[in-house]
Amino acid sequence: MYQQKDGYYRMAKKEGYKSRASYKLIQLNKKFNIIKKGYKVLDLGAAPGGWIQIASKLVGEDGLVVGVDLKSVKEKFDNSFFIQGDVFEDSTIEKIREISKVFDTVISDLAPNTSGIRSLDHQRSIDLCYRALELSSNFLESKGNLLIKVFQGEDIKKLVEDIKNEFYYVKISKPESSRPSSRETYIICKGYKKRKLKIESSELTEESA
Ligand SMILES: C[S@@+](CC[C@H](N)C(=O)[O-])C[C@H]1O[C@@H](n2cnc3c(N)ncnc32)[C@H](O)[C@@H]1O
Repeated sequence: MYQQKDGYYRMAKKEGYKSRASYKLIQLNKKFNIIKKGYKVLDLGAAPGGWIQIASKLVGEDGLVVGVDLKSVKEKFDNSFFIQGDVFEDSTIEKIREISKVFDTVISDLAPNTSGIRSLDHQRSIDLCYRALELSSNFLESKGNLLIKVFQGEDIKKLVEDIKNEFYYVKISKPESSRPSSRETYIICKGYKKRKLKIESSELTEESA
């Protein structure tokens, strides 16, 4: 296990990637093909920028990547934008809208600061997942994709059921580059059914499909 950790660390340094996190997106995309050339990608929980770098390469010069995080991201690519802000704030949503009103894929590596209390960390992670789902309802094109990180725990089952109401294809997958000891796993959602919810200020309102 430790050799694998060192392996990814060394590989990231050698290949010019930010960290092991970069390989999680590379491996998940290789398996599920959620980001393609020319796509518009919204990256939630983007700092320090590992996934922005990978996504911006995958979408190419005709694509767009918008990263959002509470913390800052220094690196900038020709096809990427970064917004420093809280995903729960309306002002952050407005800033995303100013750049693009629709996206082909939303990727969320959002993670709470861990407390060490398993149930609390799981609950905070679930809250972030539901926020990523809300934002997807607001920004995803019909048939769009969503990738969400979640800390494992009892509420995953309900989350997956709720996601299944909105996407045709839903799978849980833990990439090889994710430490086996980590409680994180990823939910891959493809084929967004329709644009159902719309965020108006701080309220969610129904929108005709
Ligand atoms: C695991 S890191 C993301 C790593 C990133 N995918 C990469 O490859 O560099 C999780 C991020 O979620 C962010 N985050 C947590 N809660 C947030 C919130 N409410 N709004 C915006 N970002 C948040 C944290 O600041 C943290 O940078």
